[in-house]
Amino acid sequence: MRFRLPHTIRSRTILVLFCAFLLSHTISLAIYEINRDKTILLTEATDLADRIIGVVELARSFPERDRQRILAAAETQFLTMFPEPGNLDDERCRDNDFSRRVTESLGGAFADVPGFHAQVCLRRLKPAPLLARNEPLHGFDVLVAVNFPDNERAVFHAILPEGESLIHDAVLVYLLFSGLIALLLAGYLIRKTVAPLGQLAKAADSIGTNIDTPPLPENGPAEVAAAARAFNRMQQRLARLVHGQTEMLAAISHDLRSAVTRLQLRAELLQDRQEREGLQRVVDDMKTMIQSVLDFARGLDPSETPRRIDLSALAESLCDDLKEEGYPVQFRSGGADCVTECRPVALRRSLHNIIDNAIKYGSEAKVSVEGTAESIRIVVEDCGPGIPMHELEAVLQPFYRLEKSRNSKTGGVGLGLSIAGNTVQAHGGELSLENINGGGLRVQMQLSRC
Ligand SMILES: Nc1ncnc2c1ncn2[C@@H]1O[C@H](COP(=O)(O)OP(=O)(O)O)[C@@H](O)[C@H]1O
Ligand SMILES: [Mg+2]
Repeated sequence: MRFRLPHTIRSRTILVLFCAFLLSHTISLAIYEINRDKTILLTEATDLADRIIGVVELARSFPERDRQRILAAAETQFLTMFPEPGNLDDERCRDNDFSRRVTESLGGAFADVPGFHAQVCLRRLKPAPLLARNEPLHGFDVLVAVNFPDNERAVFHAILPEGESLIHDAVLVYLLFSGLIALLLAGYLIRKTVAPLGQLAKAADSIGTNIDTPPLPENGPAEVAAAARAFNRMQQRLARLVHGQTEMLAAISHDLRSAVTRLQLRAELLQDRQEREGLQRVVDDMKTMIQSVLDFARGLDPSETPRRIDLSALAESLCDDLKEEGYPVQFRSGGADCVTECRPVALRRSLHNIIDNAIKYGSEAKVSVEGTAESIRIVVEDCGPGIPMHELEAVLQPFYRLEKSRNSKTGGVGLGLSIAGNTVQAHGGELSLENINGGGLRVQMQLSRC
């Protein structure tokens, strides 16, 4: 199985910190344990040598016949005395720091005794387990054979208990606790550090739907603040560009409208009936086009103040109006509460465009509104031919039409769906189109609740 790094910066940083914490503590504990064992053993070597020197000096100050008695009296739990050297095999008498230290100390103390000789054998009693607990018999046992020139000899046997390992339960609990506290603290700080990145992602997402979202706070760590500043500058430039183009579009359409009105007046003055009616049809087409462009420009205009309204009631009143005008429109409400904050004029215009399409291209419109805890869905269905799969996305683009020849029956300019799409997006929602099995188109306006 491949190891997968955690997903977020926060959990990755915590993982790195955790590994670093574990590694550094393990290394420092190991170094400490090794040095500590060595230091303790060497201190014990000096201590043992001192005790042997004391006992030997005491015994030598007595006449020869009392010496064994003195030596026997000096026995303790950790230092026993054998009159004979016993089996000092080579394996145990290997040269090491401990035996060198004991030999040196003894040699120093008995330097004035010619022919003095000491032999030290050290053996580990039992390999110390990693988590050593209260097991008294682990450590080392030592045999020290001391020879004097007058053929006198004594063999001392000592047990050196090993100091308890530092890695015991309390230390592990302490490490666990300190590690946990350090990680919690690190988690909190990392969360604070990376939080602006989340805001940046959200803001980038929301300028797709609303170019006038408020600027990001430019605080936090230097790199994040710089990214927020750059993002705000980009948003300002984009907003200027979008608003500039929309205003230009609206201004041109407005001027065109006055020109078309003048043209209409002139057409009415024409004597020739056929010519007059022909020109009036052209003028009507132009008026529809101009109105659509103005609607499109207004759809991008965020000046309408959002209000809390019931979307179901909004859709129902629009359907009632259209029905009264004689259009084939049916309305069905899901019954759920559909109150949300939105721009009702823009939404009504968008829904009107979609219902208008259903009537024009699909002969009738069935409108329904459903609400869930997170969103509200307005669905418009018809029984027309639908839209070819490969063109479902394209019809959302401005000026894209399937009917290339505009006529008075279906005379739009291809802006209705893009107006609706922009408006729904500006509400943080999504407009989706799908063909219904058995014929017809289903258009869904999915709006998130505020
Ligand atoms: N309900 C529908 N059924 C079939 N085709 C549709 C439907 N709605 C829209 N279309 C197609 O999508 C195109 C774009 O629609 P729209 O943006 O409203 O522009 P317009 O209605 O002005 O042509 C239309 O020209 C039409 O070809
Ligand atoms: Mg249309």
